[in-house]
Amino acid sequence: MATALCPGSFDPVTNGHLDIIERTARHFDNVIVAVIRNPQKSESLFTLEERQEMLREVTAHLPNVRIDFFKGLLVDYAKEHDAQAIVKGLRALSDFDYELQMAQMNERLSGIDTFFISTSPQYSFLSSSLVREVARFGGDVTNMVPPAVSKRLNERFGDRSGKGEDQP
Ligand code: PNS
Repeated sequence: MATALCPGSFDPVTNGHLDIIERTARHFDNVIVAVIRNPQKSESLFTLEERQEMLREVTAHLPNVRIDFFKGLLVDYAKEHDAQAIVKGLRALSDFDYELQMAQMNERLSGIDTFFISTSPQYSFLSSSLVREVARFGGDVTNMVPPAVSKRLNERFGDRSGKGEDQP
């Protein structure tokens, strides 16, 4: 039974992430979506629990996918859970340098290979950080995230829609 890991911050999960998770689930027996507990990039908008809940809701139709979290090194989590592969989506050349470096480091540390799936073109501009920014200022992200995520973003930013944070 081959198990793949789809790791990330998922703050929040976007349609682009979901596309990669669905396609990974077609190729592997089991998929663990591993949510990092403390994203390094920035303070997270959603708590770890919220990020996991949203992922559970949007992957409920995928029986071989489960959601978990990790802290520390991804490869340690991969070994503990007997995962044979890490799967990442590649959006553009700008992703490649960093992803290649991480893949090579992870392989050196553990022998675990990383597989890249090319992002579907309709999602190549999407990122969680841009979705957060657009939603924060009242922009429409309904076509960019699953409905369950859109609902949470509305709950979080609804009262500030169209105003921005610095406006009276
Ligand atoms: O969604 P993101 O923020 O691009 O995900 C990045 C993530 C969480 C996959 C990456 O930062 C990671 O694997 N962090 C865990 C720490 C680790 O293993 N670092 C060494 C990587 S070579």
